Amino acid sequence: MEYQVLTPALIAQFEAVLGEAHVLTAQRVDAEVYADYGRDHTEDLHFAPDVVVRPANAEEVSQIVRLCYEHRIPVTPRGAGTGLSGGALPIHHGVVLSTERLNRIIEIDERNLQATVEPGVVTEVFQNAVKEVGLFYPPDPASKGSCFLGGNLSESSGGPKAVKYGVTKDYVLNMQVVLPTGDIIWTGANTLKNATGYNLTQLMIGSEGTLGIITRIVFKLLPYPQQNILLLAPFRDENEAAAAVSAIFRAGIVPSGLEFMEREAIEWSSRYLNIPLSLPADIRAHLLIELDGQDLDQLYKEAEAVYAVLESYNVDEILLADTAGQKDDLWRIRRNIGNAVRYNSVYKEEDTVVPRAELATLLKGVKEIGSRYGFNSVCYGHAGDGNLHVNIIRGDLDDDMWHHGLQEPIKELFRLCVSLGGTISGEHGIGLVQKPYIGIAIGEVQLNLMRGIKQVFDPRGIMNPGKIF
Ligand code: LAC
Ligand code: ZN
Repeated sequence: MEYQVLTPALIAQFEAVLGEAHVLTAQRVDAEVYADYGRDHTEDLHFAPDVVVRPANAEEVSQIVRLCYEHRIPVTPRGAGTGLSGGALPIHHGVVLSTERLNRIIEIDERNLQATVEPGVVTEVFQNAVKEVGLFYPPDPASKGSCFLGGNLSESSGGPKAVKYGVTKDYVLNMQVVLPTGDIIWTGANTLKNATGYNLTQLMIGSEGTLGIITRIVFKLLPYPQQNILLLAPFRDENEAAAAVSAIFRAGIVPSGLEFMEREAIEWSSRYLNIPLSLPADIRAHLLIELDGQDLDQLYKEAEAVYAVLESYNVDEILLADTAGQKDDLWRIRRNIGNAVRYNSVYKEEDTVVPRAELATLLKGVKEIGSRYGFNSVCYGHAGDGNLHVNIIRGDLDDDMWHHGLQEPIKELFRLCVSLGGTISGEHGIGLVQKPYIGIAIGEVQLNLMRGIKQVFDPRGIMNPGKIF
């Protein structure tokens, strides 16, 4: 695609729409603040935008996008910048469109168990607001304290609760979207069922900002589960931990969280957070298992069934978290693994996913590939979903290995996922960094269908160019 250069005249037009305060350029704001709009949580990548715009409503988004469409200027939509595949990086520069001011919870509809929000609401803020009225929004990415709902939709985020409750896409009923042409549409209806034409709502979800900009979301909600039990099971063999995962389901239990953490993951995170955790020398991995519901007696029965499954493996003493503080600590440790790894080293995040019973085979494969190519990895993730985050640690790998030499082993890893019936991203998206590998998971015919869809939505290719394929 040929893009035009952003001119001072166009910036002046943006200012006429948004006011000067919401049109940021490198000259006008603090260098660090500005630089942040050019990075996310993906490795140490940075691309400088030419200008950052901060519209406050769909009408303003539309006017900005329309100008960009007319002038062929790339637009990169941006939420909170917590993405792990580079979806929000303005690789062609141009305009970064931040949704930070679209941050209102518009309505919580207690009669219908629904809520309407803007995309810049922080996920946890939304969860807390609906909890106030006894309602539950389950999707809980590790970054829930800072990520935006719009970004969760764009990257098709998951999180620990997905194993029982499903991922973000399972809670979206309807969306308002500004298309690359500037048109404002609604994608569906505020109903639990909808058999009316192609499903534009689900098409937008996971499209990583390449098809339009989400400006309003209608979610469905559930009654809040009042009780939960949290167990931490230490395993002497990480492959047994992975194997125990599917055995728990086969025993008839659907946990509300079933997380795998290998030794380094839990060790680094507890150290990073300064939460003491006694870790016997022979422990290789943990499963963090949460059960939730409305009836505590029922949950204790389920916990007994889980214990019965775990007894057949080589496990050390299982910790039953019995205070809210202890539960909170364990979840904080789990959620901060990514931050702890980042604190220790630059890393590449591979978001592998396989059918859950193949998890042990995947884990063995990761380690085998790593030892053959000479890299270390820290593995953890949503074991109940077969979703393993493989963090390849930079450590002392040289530039050549880091930038080029890892491509072959990553390809091997992804081929292994696909051969096991899995794919190359479960919840982080393809964005920029997984783009070279998409052909491993998706055939040319299917990719051409996707390219055709992109062309229909965005004939000038202005919307988040250079992502996915
Ligand atoms: C997590 C993020 C990395 O599960 O997806 O911690
Ligand atoms: Zn995750």
